[in-house]
Amino acid sequence: MTTAVSAMAERSIWSSGVTLAVIAAICASLVALTWQLTAERIEANEKEWLARSLQPALAGLFFDSPVTESMITITAPHDLPGTEDAIIYRVYSGEDPVAALFIVSARDGYAGPIRFLVGIAMDGTVTGVRVLQHRETPGMGDRIETHKSDWVLQFDGLSLRDPEPRYWAIKGDGGQFDQLTGASVTPRAIIKAIRVTLAYFEVNRDAIFAAPAEVQE
Ligand SMILES: Cc1cc2nc3c(=O)[nH]c(=O)nc-3n(C[C@H](O)[C@H](O)[C@H](O)COP(=O)(O)O)c2cc1C
Repeated sequence: MTTAVSAMAERSIWSSGVTLAVIAAICASLVALTWQLTAERIEANEKEWLARSLQPALAGLFFDSPVTESMITITAPHDLPGTEDAIIYRVYSGEDPVAALFIVSARDGYAGPIRFLVGIAMDGTVTGVRVLQHRETPGMGDRIETHKSDWVLQFDGLSLRDPEPRYWAIKGDGGQFDQLTGASVTPRAIIKAIRVTLAYFEVNRDAIFAAPAEVQE
């Protein structure tokens, strides 16, 4: 009797175990299937978001290439601003290069590095500057953000010849650019980083467009 009861209990435990294992396997398959179905959509959304974020630094340019698919990484150390790897997106109209979009870091911000975009057309003029990330003080250095002030818009259309490199400085240092009232450390860092990026583009323009694009994950 006792043996029959324990055999039944054992069968019951086994069948519960098998049922649980089957349910777990079904759930795991469903999760894997859902992930597979949504991964492509997520990747497309991420690319669209990145392309939209890059767009403001390419104002006034005609281009028809998917910017996010022409990325190259310049491994640190390099001659661009910042100690981390720099990213460059090449921008084309058909086969013709029309601009390069740099993601660089100004090292000497007031509260740390300032990561920002600089778009440069083939003739060496700035097509746009947009700050992506910073820790500058609210109400002071954070006026480098376009929704707080127009400060970064003053670089549009300028180059290393207009003004000459020595005038790439705030007015207080003898340059041509407006400073932010009570916050001149932040503007100095950005102006210097733009000037260095323009100089890098001038020297490395051909190599930038000759490099093969990296495959995006
Ligand atoms: C709490 C605090 C936060 C500050 N934040 C900034 C800032 O974000 N950017 C900046 O350029 N200066 C900032 N400053 C001001 C700088 O210390 C400096 O006085 C200012 O940039 C003016 O520099 P100048 O004397 O060369 O004109 C801050 C100062 C204090 C006390």
